[in-house]
Amino acid sequence: EQHDIIIAIDGPAASGKSTTARRVAKKLGYTYIDTGAMYRSVTLKAFEHDMLERLKHSPEDVRILLDPLSIEFQGDRVLLDGRDVTAGIRENRVSREVSFISSLKPVRDRLKTLQQQMGEKRGVVMDGRDIGTVIFPDAELKIFLVADAAERARRRYAELVQKNGNPAALPSLDELEREIVQRDRDDAERAHAPLRKHEDAIEVDTSSLTIDEQVELVYSLAMERISAGTSRA
Ligand code: CDP
Ligand code: CDP
Repeated sequence: EQHDIIIAIDGPAASGKSTTARRVAKKLGYTYIDTGAMYRSVTLKAFEHDMLERLKHSPEDVRILLDPLSIEFQGDRVLLDGRDVTAGIRENRVSREVSFISSLKPVRDRLKTLQQQMGEKRGVVMDGRDIGTVIFPDAELKIFLVADAAERARRRYAELVQKNGNPAALPSLDELEREIVQRDRDDAERAHAPLRKHEDAIEVDTSSLTIDEQVELVYSLAMERISAGTSRA
């Protein structure tokens, strides 16, 4: 009988979490859950309600955005309150404000509940910043991905070029690196569920790994954990 586990993948921006998580989930027949997309969705909602400035002064008003709030995944699409926001949540204005929205306790509490429900039946690969430390500290496999900031900025830049085509309309590589480093610092220094490696997490530096190598590594660790659980059962 199949023993379904939870795989938690955390790490800083552009370390390769979502690419790895999506591909490992596919190989295992598991569900992939992108928790960054959930924080990005709440951030987009703040823009849509023109509430960002107000929240900086009165953070408790964030309740307005959470009541009600629905976030669902449909294949590769993200639905916020029933609308497809897959493209909108990747906008640069969202990337710049998402750490602020993620620092608010009511937001974290609500998304924690949703994420724990999504993983209730196990058989999930979930990526984010606090999956191994806070959301599923009992995950059978915890991975902490890291990579040099310069390499991570190059990866994001390449992605943007591919999406937009026109490099003139893009932030510079230096600018991207500064934004990434700043966001990591904000995520690591916040009071609630900061970015950090759980003591049981396996740290993988992806700076000089290809995506295939990184997927194979995490997949083989997952297979070990799955068969360990099956033989015990
Ligand atoms: O893909 P990228 O690394 O740029 O970021 P993401 O995974 O989409 O996450 C965007 C932001 O959401 C992070 O910088 C964190 O501020 C926040 N986040 C979080 O606080 N906790 C999580 N579990 C996932 C994301
Ligand atoms: O989810 P996270 O922000 O941690 O990173 P990602 O979106 O999976 O990866 C950021 C970019 O780096 C993607 O375009 C990946 O294809 C690329 N990447 C890479 O070129 N080499 C790796 N070893 C890992 C990721």
